[in-house]
Amino acid sequence: MTTSPNTQIQPLSFAFDESTGQVSIGGVPLPELIKRHGTPLYIMDEETLRQMMQSYKSAFERYPAPVQVLFAAKANLTMGLCALIQQEGLGIDVVSGGEYYTALKSNFPTENLVFNGNNKTVDELELVIHHGIGLISVDNFHELTLIHQIAQQTGKRVDVVLRITPGIECHTHDYIKTGLLDSKFGFDLSRLSQVIDLITTDYNETIRLTGLHAHIGSQIFEIKPYVDLIEVMLNLFYNIREHYGLTLTHMNIGGGLGIAYQSQDDPPNVSDYANQVIDKLIDYAEKIDFPLPMLILEPGRSLVATAGTTLYRVGSTKVIPEINKTYVAVDGGMGDNIRPALYGAVYTALIANKYNEPHTRHVTLAGKYCESGDILIRDLLVPESIAPGDLVLVFGTGAYNYTMSSNYNRVPRPAMVLVNDGQSQVLIQRETYDDIIARDLIPESFLTQKVSAEN
Ligand code: LLP
Repeated sequence: MTTSPNTQIQPLSFAFDESTGQVSIGGVPLPELIKRHGTPLYIMDEETLRQMMQSYKSAFERYPAPVQVLFAAKANLTMGLCALIQQEGLGIDVVSGGEYYTALKSNFPTENLVFNGNNKTVDELELVIHHGIGLISVDNFHELTLIHQIAQQTGKRVDVVLRITPGIECHTHDYIKTGLLDSKFGFDLSRLSQVIDLITTDYNETIRLTGLHAHIGSQIFEIKPYVDLIEVMLNLFYNIREHYGLTLTHMNIGGGLGIAYQSQDDPPNVSDYANQVIDKLIDYAEKIDFPLPMLILEPGRSLVATAGTTLYRVGSTKVIPEINKTYVAVDGGMGDNIRPALYGAVYTALIANKYNEPHTRHVTLAGKYCESGDILIRDLLVPESIAPGDLVLVFGTGAYNYTMSSNYNRVPRPAMVLVNDGQSQVLIQRETYDDIIARDLIPESFLTQKVSAEN
């Protein structure tokens, strides 16, 4: 018998086979994955990835105007994922030259790329304007001037939207709130007319204003802030048409939809989100007599987080009877998943090779990095027999894990594999110690000094 996954938290292809006693993802039993790729390992389930991408696309299908779903690359980007995203017909939201370059080198159509960010550098703007970009979401006056200058030099006219801070409150971690007046991102509404004046007069030859963009935060569980956002944006569209005779056609409402990291989390599903967004757009646009804009979305986490699982191996354990505490350390930690240390993020995990044993013992799942704060899960239930060599699967690690990883303590980053149908394919190779030192140089002068000392 095979146990089916908790699809809120676990990838769709997660399975436990009673007869072999083995957990598999994408049809590949974990021991096989370890034999091929080692641990720690980021495992991306292709079925979940494709299903999530398709569910976004189909949820918005009934919107009567065009819809563009952009994957927010910051959540997880590799060249292989770019190819998969392209196959599924999504675009990509990039926020750096590196993300753009990754897409470019995987032959991703540049017209389906949107460039975001609050401090795009001259080099980055030159790169994207030179090679092509669908839209730039302009964040500030400085950037507007740079785009104008670069476009002038290259003889191009660049399509832009303006990133605004719509003043919408949503309930999420302070670090990932972005839609408020006190935000480093975007134009606050009082500056908007000044920007539009500039674009429609001095920069008219080089910049074409197509719409507005807002992103109100991340890991959001409510739909209402999005509905409110649409009203704010449509009112702005209306006023801009009144004042400038300019009918904006693009509305980018950002990303931010939350996911379940734990069983008590109850995020909205994509189709409820889509339905409320679409209904509001249709109703309100009709009310103010404004043509329906093209709708742009930028989900990151909700597309990829649940598809990702991290596989670790248990090493040392430390029992402190005085305070009734057990630390179980794995071969990864804050270098491959900084989110618990940075945001107090909570994850769900299980001991895969003892899946059938009751998980009744409370332990603290620690990483191997030299920081007391390197704790992956503060209170995890594991089998009483937990021991070195056991396999830990942490769920929901497909977003903001690899992309926020580091070589802290000079630990090589794990490999990332894509699994499906019994196959595993490498998306990113495991780093080696040679990768770790690849960019180090010993200053010439030290070498000379050494020689002269010997003389
Ligand atoms: N669009 C813009 C302009 C953004 O800034 C973001 C995320 C997204 C889209 C995608 O948001 P998502 O759908 O993934 O929530 N490192 C944090 C999350 C930071 C989100 C930053 N911006 C974390 O690990 O929770």
